[in-house]
Amino acid sequence: MSFDGSKAFVAAIAGPNYPAPVKAVETMQKAARLNRDEAIAIEGETFTYCAKTKTAECLVQVFLGDQYLKKVSKTVTKNAKPTKYASVLGAGIMGGGIAYQSASMGVPVLMKDIKTEQLDLGMNEASKLLNKEVERKKMTTEKMAKVISQITPTLSYSDFSNTQFVVEAVVENEKIKKSVLAEVEKSTSPETVLASNTSTISITRLAEGLSRPEKFCGMHFFNPVHRMPLVEIIRGAKTSEETIAQAVNYANQMGKTPIVVNDCAGFLVNRILFPYFKGFVHLIEDGVDFQRIDKVMEKFGWPMGPAYLLDVVGIDTGVHAAKIMADAFPDRMSYLTKTILDVMYENKRFGQKNGLGFFEYEVDKKGKPVKKVNPSVYELIKPVVKNEITVTDEDIIMRMMIPMITEASRCLEDKIVATPVEVDMGLLLGLGFPPFRAGALKYADSIGMKNLEEISKKFHSIGHMYEFTPFMKGMAAENKTYY
Ligand SMILES: NC(=O)c1ccc[n+]([C@@H]2O[C@H](COP(=O)([O-])OP(=O)(O)OC[C@H]3O[C@@H](n4cnc5c(N)ncnc54)[C@H](O)[C@@H]3O)[C@@H](O)[C@H]2O)c1
Repeated sequence: MSFDGSKAFVAAIAGPNYPAPVKAVETMQKAARLNRDEAIAIEGETFTYCAKTKTAECLVQVFLGDQYLKKVSKTVTKNAKPTKYASVLGAGIMGGGIAYQSASMGVPVLMKDIKTEQLDLGMNEASKLLNKEVERKKMTTEKMAKVISQITPTLSYSDFSNTQFVVEAVVENEKIKKSVLAEVEKSTSPETVLASNTSTISITRLAEGLSRPEKFCGMHFFNPVHRMPLVEIIRGAKTSEETIAQAVNYANQMGKTPIVVNDCAGFLVNRILFPYFKGFVHLIEDGVDFQRIDKVMEKFGWPMGPAYLLDVVGIDTGVHAAKIMADAFPDRMSYLTKTILDVMYENKRFGQKNGLGFFEYEVDKKGKPVKKVNPSVYELIKPVVKNEITVTDEDIIMRMMIPMITEASRCLEDKIVATPVEVDMGLLLGLGFPPFRAGALKYADSIGMKNLEEISKKFHSIGHMYEFTPFMKGMAAENKTYY
């Protein structure tokens, strides 16, 4: 292949935000006809150029962030007992995924549900994932059979006394979760750690009915479990450090990256995500096309724009969680009027799960959902549009990103996590924040707090989520950075 052809090929894969791969091809092209010393000089120049880019600085930060998380994990789990046998309650999307992940990483697991058909579905999902691994030649059929034999479906608690760790992943209903947790506590040994995979319910509240609340924590996996690297380990008011250590250890055994966070609505990642969604809702109200918002945010570096992301998360799930976030943080997360999300929900547009959301989805030959736009969706949007405002692409970015940055800063200020690195790595691993920007707080640093404060003032009339906290104002006044 000619150099120009390979340059175009490499550029298409690397994208405009990662200059090094194309520079590498250019360097080979320039150096091809030179002698060794001349070629080394050119290589040196290119290396210096790449090393000084913002992308390199951010990618180095991501590497350091990853090392930091590993170091914290190692310290936390110094005296932790490994989980030899685990169990999962609920064989749904998440329970099935957690059971698969545990078994495929060598920790056998009991998977309990109240319905036989759900257990069958859970086992089928695991088999599908394993078959794909075999098709891709990443796993032998012997290994596949071994993994499947490590998941034991059950309708009873009879073998639970042997498990050291239980992950609860039943429906998102506080009453049901509390009763299931109380039940399982009675069926396990006093040493067993219980963890809930709730995405919104307070861990401190879920612990209320337990006789061993110190043995209980949150363990928030992301969907799809086998792909998403992050697990938030949530410390409730009564969770012991020993329990946290065992949960971090089990997450590591499953090949995941755990981050320990203190209990609050949305924990770390969803708490920061919902103000970003609110930025999207208000842009729609100001007459900005959802397809344009998605394109701008994808160009910014997100793997998918907010409309597409809401479709993937599930608009019903989004509406439910947005209400919990609004109750917890009314000053900046509540809505005064019906939003586009409410309208979508009322019209049963739940997103990818039923093929209808902002976009519409059809399954292709490989079973993958393909999105397309049905112009009729604009008829649903019309009634919630309150203004017709002209915005620049930069306005869209700032209106989406400032609420995310201010909430990220609040999480740090409220000590939900200890460091900016944990905030930013949580966003990278849990949401796919663009690595070449290294996270919301690193991105804020790159703009400069003084600069950002000035920009944010332009949007104060939209809502409190655009207002700097006193801490952020102090940083701006003193020209400080998070890193
Ligand atoms: N789906 C996601 O994207 C996602 C992501 C992170 C966390 N979560 C959380 O994970 C949990 C499960 O979500 P899901 O999407 O897998 O739900 P789901 O509806 O797919 O599965 C729930 C399962 O729980 C079973 N169940 C109900 N009551 C039970 C009981 N008493 N004992 C045992 N099993 C019981 C149901 O039969 C069902 O199989 C929820 O708390 C949810 O908030 C979901």
